[in-house]
Amino acid sequence: MRGRKIIIGVTGGIACYKAVSLISALRQQNFQVQVVMTENAARFVTPVTFRAISRQPVCVEEFAAGGEPVPHIGLVEDAALFVVAPTTANTIAKLANGLADNVLTASFLAARCPKIIVPSMNTAMWENSLTQENLQKLQKHGVAIIEPDSGYLACGVSGAGRYPDNKIILQKIQETLGFTAKLRGKKIIITGGGTREPLDPVRVLTNNSSGQMGLALQAAAEKAGADVVYINAAALDVSGLKAKIAAEFAGADALIMAAAVSDYRAAQVSPRKIKSAPKKLTIELTKTEDLLKYFAGQKKKQYLVGFALESEDLLKNAEQKLREKNLDLIAANDISALGGVEATVILLDKNGAAETLEKLPKVQIAERIIERIATAFCA
Ligand code: CTP
Repeated sequence: MRGRKIIIGVTGGIACYKAVSLISALRQQNFQVQVVMTENAARFVTPVTFRAISRQPVCVEEFAAGGEPVPHIGLVEDAALFVVAPTTANTIAKLANGLADNVLTASFLAARCPKIIVPSMNTAMWENSLTQENLQKLQKHGVAIIEPDSGYLACGVSGAGRYPDNKIILQKIQETLGFTAKLRGKKIIITGGGTREPLDPVRVLTNNSSGQMGLALQAAAEKAGADVVYINAAALDVSGLKAKIAAEFAGADALIMAAAVSDYRAAQVSPRKIKSAPKKLTIELTKTEDLLKYFAGQKKKQYLVGFALESEDLLKNAEQKLREKNLDLIAANDISALGGVEATVILLDKNGAAETLEKLPKVQIAERIIERIATAFCA
């Protein structure tokens, strides 16, 4: 789940129980959350609570992480974002000076990903010029700061220093990760990878699809706020893939068939392993069902996207597939794209408009396809 791992650092302020609902909201949005706590934070809310809510072991003590000698390095390596919520004045001072005296401060220093802090403290501590100077220093070093709210504080006075609404923190997280709301509320089914048709109990008929495009589309659709159902075709034969799509199709707003679906299957699957004794073996193949055609027949509101992989007459063949399969959009790519990180793709829509995406990383092609779907929903 690279790109969806968020480290939540929790420091020992009275507001640290509010981090529990922040983590719960992140989990509901399909983020993987790793909690790192200071020992003081663990006095306010036990690591057990955070473990249950994040569904991950929690890091509290530098040397108690069970056999991992430098846990802070491994923790942050694949993180997309580091958020410290709440952040006490004490931790702010440590972070501003590059201290690494506990697992939270050490992993913050070791993290290369974007960082956000959520200061929460007594008004006098917040307004103290030392705290403000530390915050300015952190800001200068690229750390984003979410300003505290004003209101009634646990110490009995009213003033600045209150932990802000988690909605504001969630919004900042989305924004920092480049997430938008273009497809919020839309359910998108994405298939990826190559299907596997059995020949006998051990052998399968499959293809060279790497599955990269499907995963890139999944990431792009999630970034656009869609409710994504990703179906990995690599674990399925064509009828299995059809059943999985069918289970989701009625409630879906779009289906993107990036899966390389086998055009043929064995006419008869051998119940026993085919012996390798004969010099020549003939296997009769029969055509599989065209899934896009089938779902085009079931379509109500769904926007259908197909892919065409061609070795010649790219545009002509893609146009024909668009029409025959009754698609809204087809992404036509040359066979040279197979397995590579980059591809040249022509996006052809049912109105006849063609858009060429010249030698772009698949991640950017996926983002453009998702943008096209979002635009179509607005029309
Ligand atoms: N596809 C499908 N069901 C199949 C075969 C393909 O839904 N049985 C989908 C693929 O997921 C892809 C699109 O149809 O989005 C085009 O697949 P492709 O194999 O390139 O086209 P075919 O129509 O099978 O034509 P050909 O192999 O002859 O080029």
